[in-house]
Amino acid sequence: MAPPSPTPVRLHRGMLFSPAAPDRLVAVEDGCLGVSAGGRVAAAGEYAEIAAHHPQAPVTDWRPAAILPGLVDLHSHIPQYVAMAMDGYDLLPWLERFIYPTEAAFADPRHARETSRRFFAAALACGTTTSLLYATVHAEGTRMAFRAAEEAGVRAAIGKVMMDRNAPAELLEETSASLTEADALCAEWNGAAEGRLRYAFTPRFAITCSAGLMRGVAGLAADHGALIQTHLAENPDELRTVAGLFPEAPHYTGVYADAGLLGPSTVMAHCLYLSDGEWDLLGESGTRVAHCAGSNFFLRSGVFDMGQAKRRGIAVGLGTDVGAGPSLSLFDEMESACFASRARYALERAAASRLGAMRGEFGRLPGGADLLASVLSRLELDDSVALVDPVQAFYLATLGGAQALGMADEIGSLEPGKWADFVVVRPPVIDAASPEEGRTPREVLSQIIYRTEPSAILATFVAGAERHRRTA
Ligand code: GUN
Ligand code: ZN
Repeated sequence: MAPPSPTPVRLHRGMLFSPAAPDRLVAVEDGCLGVSAGGRVAAAGEYAEIAAHHPQAPVTDWRPAAILPGLVDLHSHIPQYVAMAMDGYDLLPWLERFIYPTEAAFADPRHARETSRRFFAAALACGTTTSLLYATVHAEGTRMAFRAAEEAGVRAAIGKVMMDRNAPAELLEETSASLTEADALCAEWNGAAEGRLRYAFTPRFAITCSAGLMRGVAGLAADHGALIQTHLAENPDELRTVAGLFPEAPHYTGVYADAGLLGPSTVMAHCLYLSDGEWDLLGESGTRVAHCAGSNFFLRSGVFDMGQAKRRGIAVGLGTDVGAGPSLSLFDEMESACFASRARYALERAAASRLGAMRGEFGRLPGGADLLASVLSRLELDDSVALVDPVQAFYLATLGGAQALGMADEIGSLEPGKWADFVVVRPPVIDAASPEEGRTPREVLSQIIYRTEPSAILATFVAGAERHRRTA
C-alpha cells in the first residue's frame, strides 16, 4: 500500500500539466500542487478542493502560468556547452575539429568547475531538473562537475568519459587506469547529495573503446548497480569504422552486447541505423534509448525511427546532446522530436511513392510483385505509430526520461508521493490579437512546446526547493 501523502506546507496555484501515459495528458485548468516539508508532492489537482482541505497552507499564485513536471534530459555533454552550434561538419570530423579540443580544457579543474556551474544554471533556466550527462576523461574535471551539480541542487547522473584508443593523445587513457578512476568516482558519487546524484559509467562509443575496456565497464556497473551510457549507430561513417574495428561482431549493437553492456541500466544515445534484429536485442535486453532529434538534424546524422522503439515497448526519453544539439532546452528538443517524426514519415512516404512508381519493373521479375508488397509493408506508413505529437513529446521529456533512468516512481509527473520537481512556465502569447481564452489544455501544451523561450520559464524547483527564478 502506498504511504499516506504528507501534509502540504505550500500550495502552488496554476494550470497543471502532467503526463499519465505516452499519449495521455492530465491537465487541470485551475490546478494546485501541494508540496510537503520534505519536498514531495503532497497533493495535485483542483485548486478549490486542495485549498479547502489545507486552508492554513500559504499559496504561491502563478496564474496565468502553467506548472509542469521538471524536465528530464536523457543525454547531454557538460564540457560541450561552450562549443554549441558550430555547424558544417558530420559527426567524426566535428569531434576532431571542435569537441576533443574543447574537452581537453577540462584538464584544468577550475575551468571544469566554472563550465559545469554555468551548464547547470542554464539547464535549470530551461526547466531541466534531471540530466544524464557526460563529463570528460579527466577524473578531477568529473569531480568538479559533480560538485557543481550538488551546489546547483539538481538531479544528475554523470560519468567520466572513457577512451583507451582512437582519441587525441591528451585524452587517451590506459585501460586499467580508466577503469580504476571510474570505479573510484562511482564509489564517491553514486547516491550522493541525498540520492540526487548518481554515477553513470561512460565508455564514449565503440570507436574509442577497446573490448577489454567495455567488458570492464559492464563488470563495474553491475558491482555498483550503476548506470551505463554510450552512443550507438549515430552516423554511417561511424558504423563503417566500428565494423572495421570489430570484424567478428554481427553489427554495432552486437559489439555492445558481446561486452555485456546492454540492459535496463544502460542508455544508448541516437540509435538511427539499426536493423530489426538490433532493435529486438535492445527490446529483449530492456536497454533504454535517448532520442536526440536536434543533434541528429544539426550533425546531419539521420532521422530516428520512433516506430521501432514504440512497437517493442522500449523506454525512450529525449536528449539535448549539447554541443551537437544546438539548444540546452528540452522545449526545443520536444519541438525537434515532433518535427523528426514528421521528417521520418515524409521519408517513408517518399520511399513508398518511388517504389510504387517502379511497380511495372517489379512486375516483370519472377515474384517481383510479392517482393514489392513485402518491402512496402515494412515502411512506416502508419501515422499513429510513427508520429510524435506534443502530448507524446511531453511524455518523452518527463515520465519517459524518468522511466529510462529507472526513476519513474520518484519523478517525471506531478503525483502524490513523488519528488516535487517542477517548472513554472508562462504560456506563450502568440500575438496580441490571438485569443488566449478558450484554448483547450492540449492546445496550450502545444503552444508551450513550440513557442517557449527561456524567458517564459519563471521558476524551477527540485524537491520543492526553488533552484531558478527568472530575474528580468
Ligand atoms: N559520439 C561519440 N562522441 C560523441 C559526442 O560527443 N557527441 C555526439 N553527438 N556523438 C558522439
Ligand atoms: Zn552525445
